[in-house]
Amino acid sequence: MAKKPINRQEPETTGHEWDGIEEYNNPLPRWWVWVFYATIVWGLWYVIAYPAWPLINQATAGYKGWSTRANVAAEIEAARAANAEINARLVAADLADIPADPELNTYAVSAGAAVFRTWCAQCHGAGAGGLQAGGYPNLLDNDWLWGGTLEDIHLTVTHGIRNETDPDARWSQMPAFGDMLDSAEIDQVVNYVMSLSGAPQDAAAAEAGAQVYLDNCAVCHGENGEGDITQGAPNLADAIWLYGGDYDTIRETVTNSRFGIMPPMGGADLSEAEIRAVAVYVHQLGGGE
Ligand code: HEC
Ligand code: HEC
Repeated sequence: MAKKPINRQEPETTGHEWDGIEEYNNPLPRWWVWVFYATIVWGLWYVIAYPAWPLINQATAGYKGWSTRANVAAEIEAARAANAEINARLVAADLADIPADPELNTYAVSAGAAVFRTWCAQCHGAGAGGLQAGGYPNLLDNDWLWGGTLEDIHLTVTHGIRNETDPDARWSQMPAFGDMLDSAEIDQVVNYVMSLSGAPQDAAAAEAGAQVYLDNCAVCHGENGEGDITQGAPNLADAIWLYGGDYDTIRETVTNSRFGIMPPMGGADLSEAEIRAVAVYVHQLGGGE
């Protein structure tokens, strides 16, 4: 195809031509070129100023010394310093007086909720509802194994339960009655325990089980199954179960007994302020005495 001449001054071309199409030789706009150079300079500066080149263990540090880890550490330090005063007040206060002090109480409940999520939720559940399969008690209800006053909860959290780590841990042990009662007696006492909260499997066995209960169980669980918080012996009459209230589960508990363990949180793990905060948090969940 013949090229039609255009009636104006032709711009310079690169000289490339294909099938009648030519390439103009337009210079880049100046502003664009300067921006381009500026990005190169900025890129070089950035590599020198900030962590950039990966090395074996970490990147080059950069002259500004910037580090996400150091920033987090500084923020944590700042938060700690900001809370130091109220934490000191929390530790100095009488436990029983904390709920009546609105400022301390609000602080303790929110700080305690954070402690709970980190240190307690794996066993007691995120909502503190417990987990029957593992014998982890519900902390929302008003049914306490070891007592639900702030003092009681504080002691439980500080020293834990039946652990070998803390000599002041709460301690008690239900014997394994598989060695002490025969199979028929165990059947009777299990039925009797079920009858206490209104669900025996076999009424005649339950009647016979009353005496077995008085002889073997009442010392800890009380004559009417009301439980005993000085021994961590559960109430057996309230239809709230730590391990489960069906025949097989109770039979397993009576035959082999249980040994629920909670680790101590005092000492290395939680500060006194954190323990008090989480105790106040648990106490106000609904079941606190
Ligand atoms: C490793 C699992 C585990 C962790 C973690 C744990 N607990 Fe426990 N906790 C238990 C068990 C098991 C029991 C019941 C022990 C028993 O049978 O007496 C218990 C009992 C309790 C009780 C006594 C309940 C009652 O009815 O008297 C309180 C209060 C309690 N835990 C609070 C906490 C708090 C607060 C934390 C976190 C700081 C925590 N627990 C962390 C396992 C745990
Ligand atoms: C020395 C005290 C003691 C004696 C005696 C005792 N218990 Fe217990 N019992 C406990 C304790 C403590 C627990 C909690 C165990 C744990 O959490 O590890 C418990 C737990 C139970 C549970 C579990 C309750 C639940 O909520 O899941 C049942 C059921 C029970 N006992 C029945 C009996 C029966 C029946 C007898 C008599 C044959 C008996 N106990 C004798 C101390 C005792």
